[in-house]
Amino acid sequence: MTDQPASLSFPTPYAADERQSTREIAATLRDNALAGLPPSAFEDMAVVRSFMGRRQIILNDPAAIRHVLIENADNYGRTAAVYRLLDPVIGRGMLLADGDDWREQRRAAAPAFAPRAMGSIAGHIARGGERMLADLRAAGGANIDLFAQFQLTTLEIAAAALFSLDLGAEGPEVRAELRDYAAGVGRPTVLDFMLPRGWPVPRSFARWRFRRAWMAHMARLVAARREAPGGARGDLFDMMAQQAHSERQLVEEVATVLVAGHETTAVALFWTCTMLAELPAVQDGIAAEAATFDLSSAGAAAALPALVYTRAVIDEALRLYPPAFSITRQARAADDAAGVAIPPAGVVLIVPWVLHRHVKLWSDPNRFDPGRFLPGAPPPARFSYLPFGVGPRACIGAQFALTEATIVLAQLLRAVRLELADDAPVLPLAAITLRPNRSPPFRLTPRV
Ligand code: HEM
Repeated sequence: MTDQPASLSFPTPYAADERQSTREIAATLRDNALAGLPPSAFEDMAVVRSFMGRRQIILNDPAAIRHVLIENADNYGRTAAVYRLLDPVIGRGMLLADGDDWREQRRAAAPAFAPRAMGSIAGHIARGGERMLADLRAAGGANIDLFAQFQLTTLEIAAAALFSLDLGAEGPEVRAELRDYAAGVGRPTVLDFMLPRGWPVPRSFARWRFRRAWMAHMARLVAARREAPGGARGDLFDMMAQQAHSERQLVEEVATVLVAGHETTAVALFWTCTMLAELPAVQDGIAAEAATFDLSSAGAAAALPALVYTRAVIDEALRLYPPAFSITRQARAADDAAGVAIPPAGVVLIVPWVLHRHVKLWSDPNRFDPGRFLPGAPPPARFSYLPFGVGPRACIGAQFALTEATIVLAQLLRAVRLELADDAPVLPLAAITLRPNRSPPFRLTPRV
């Protein structure tokens, strides 16, 4: 270990006014919802705002969160904006499905994410990580777009581990389509938040056109998987194919897992590395921990439980930069969430970005300190740490994501030291996931 700091503060870069006009709220909803969060959100247990006649409630109180996400979860659905923005990309796959349709999909997919599946998944992850290191070596280490690299690597890993698919040249194409959508017609407008579900907005037609081309691409992947030699693999694809009621449903289920299963993990790895660029001692700690283990596809599953420091770094990075920055719900009927009145159609925001930095829930909340998650440390206060949500709709891929982020980070930092290659700030943006405002170049130096 060096004598450089193993801990630094990463305060939220935004300071909104406590009271904002309708226009200001509308502008931040469109451009970056993080910048519009009032200071009281980080200090109080509930914050209620009205916006164009709609009640918006930020909940930090554990009993209220428990009520909305667990006890009375059936009373809360996804918001119209989430449907509008995500439907073109994932259709009615698990994330946007409801009722029996959702229950069936979740039950059918569960075995693929069970603890006993993680051994084989760790092997796929390690192979993907090795391929990433080879790509990085080939790129030379000077001006590396790590974010794009993580997006490609996590996509390839999800396709291989869950669908037995080697994406090959398709990987960059899939990424390019998603990138164009996110930067173009997939960007939210104020009307996306205002109009009820099912009502068209000016971008609806362009989104429909994207959906048609994208789902056709997903259908080609499904066909390629079906035609691949080797027959049934007992993987998630086979489980979904058995359960789906139509080809269209299968295609949308595959699209959901491919998208939900890679972008968030890539974002997590990106913010982890962006913070660690300023914390060389933490990089050294990970490299030292990983040094003696076999992190190849044969050994990664066995090494995983020993990578406790690396895992604590990931847990802490998910606290300060939670890729799913907000868990948003719309009430179907009026409700009382531990004393907070929720009107019908009221929008409830449970915001990991806020919860994880709340002054009453964490000591020195903006300080990066993996020690919070090392064995023996007191557990976080209940419902104060929700990177994967909680309750029936909690992330089905949480173990997959943690396994992936831990192994890939250990492989990477054992091989290289990393620094940011420029000084311009990198700011988090609320854009479905917690994306950076730019993809900064990294400089990678081999350790040996
Ligand atoms: C660091 C990475 C990840 C983060 C932070 C994350 C976060 C989340 C969160 C917060 C939810 C719940 C949303 C809500 O309640 O509204 C969710 C749902 C979901 N996630 Fe993840 N996720 C990650 C990785 C993954 C992976 C690797 C997969 C699959 C391979 C996945 C698949 C899903 C699916 C299918 C759902 C919908 C579950 C349902 O509605 O029943 N996620 N994720």
